[in-house]
Amino acid sequence: MGVHFSKKYLGNFISEHEYEAIMPQVQAAHDALVNKDGPGNDFLGWMDLPVNYDKEEFARIKEAAKKIREDSDVLLVAGIGGSYLGARAVVEAICGQMHNETQDGLKIYFCGNSISPTYLNDIIKVTKGKRFSINVISKSGTTTETALAFRVLRQLLEDQVGAEEANRRIYATTDRAKGTLKELADAQGWPTFVVPDDVGGRFSVLTAVGLLPIACAGIDIDALMQGAADAMKEYSVCDLNNQAYQYAATRNILYRKGKSVEMLGCFEPNFTMMNEWYKQLFGESEGKDNKGLMPASCVFSTDLHSMGQFIQEGSRVLFETFVDIKKPQEDLYIQSIEGNFDGLNFLADQNMSVVNRKAMEGTILAHNDGGVPIALVEVDELDAYNLGCLIYFFWKACAISGYLLAVNPFNQPGVESYKKNMFALMGKPGYEDAKAALEARLG
Ligand code: PA5
Repeated sequence: MGVHFSKKYLGNFISEHEYEAIMPQVQAAHDALVNKDGPGNDFLGWMDLPVNYDKEEFARIKEAAKKIREDSDVLLVAGIGGSYLGARAVVEAICGQMHNETQDGLKIYFCGNSISPTYLNDIIKVTKGKRFSINVISKSGTTTETALAFRVLRQLLEDQVGAEEANRRIYATTDRAKGTLKELADAQGWPTFVVPDDVGGRFSVLTAVGLLPIACAGIDIDALMQGAADAMKEYSVCDLNNQAYQYAATRNILYRKGKSVEMLGCFEPNFTMMNEWYKQLFGESEGKDNKGLMPASCVFSTDLHSMGQFIQEGSRVLFETFVDIKKPQEDLYIQSIEGNFDGLNFLADQNMSVVNRKAMEGTILAHNDGGVPIALVEVDELDAYNLGCLIYFFWKACAISGYLLAVNPFNQPGVESYKKNMFALMGKPGYEDAKAALEARLG
């Protein structure tokens, strides 16, 4: 296991007896998960997913990825929310934010995650003169952002290669049996992959939802699953040594002391989309019934030059969780320069990662001095195995944390509100009354 939770910088904010005091509640949360009798218990498929997954489909995912890497220059992955974030997060964490520029072979672009015509036009431009395939991902099959992008891109593909060949280049990841996308896929003969019924979007990165794009990026999905499987075992026992539970307890102890924001921070820009994935995981799981920690994120040292001021001296509403990546994918040796014209020779004759680490250590101490509690999640390196561990660490912590907060961590009823208004304002049949009422409010 290359993931460790550390309370090293929490000593001034939480005492050991507080962890002991919250343990009976942690035990109750653990029991509800294990006995599957808590709220949202029909969405617990993620719990044993790292070992209990469809092996035949897993093999098909690898075959499809091989075919796509061989017959395509570009893969367009259309999906939003849970049908998008995990895949992009893992791809960028491992292959880098600039993987399309730095790696040979298949280019991967994510779309269907906004309604921006500008963005979709850019996606269309990157397919120009290129052999491309589409992986459309939608559990419901009706999500507007994804469906709208897909209708445009499918047409583009058919125009380029004809309907028959297009049908061999469209891969649908959707419900096992029902929904518009499933019906369409079956009718057209597209290869299909399954979003399991008992796995919610934000817990779906280790299903075909995440695995197909991740495998297409050339990432070892066996190692990813192995990491998650090891973490599943590691965090299966409820005691004070369970580090996922320590993290869940920490979040709730601080929340009850008035810290209403958790800022996830990492000194590695390639972690940016993992930050986004974390925000969906905790935001959708806990933000309900008018409560919940607000998940926020920073990439450091970049954001020390923007949010750093607020964290150091602004309203004392937040604590930080630093994801400390121990080893960079690639280091860079800083040479000393004759004449020292920029005065930076004091940083030279060592690897840049050492400077980055000193920046992190200095930041931790400064923020601690400013009254900010800091939890640490240490990760050996951003490879497939450790990403698997980390994903499961956050899943398990999130489930326990949600139960400690006494919410259903596995639903997201609030997400529907904007959709209803949008449908009404766009004149979707059946929404006529709502349309008039909303337009009157808009004036
Ligand atoms: O977590 C969730 O349930 C959401 O973020 C969904 O994943 C997102 O809305 C996409 O839904 P769908 O896969 O049905 O298109």
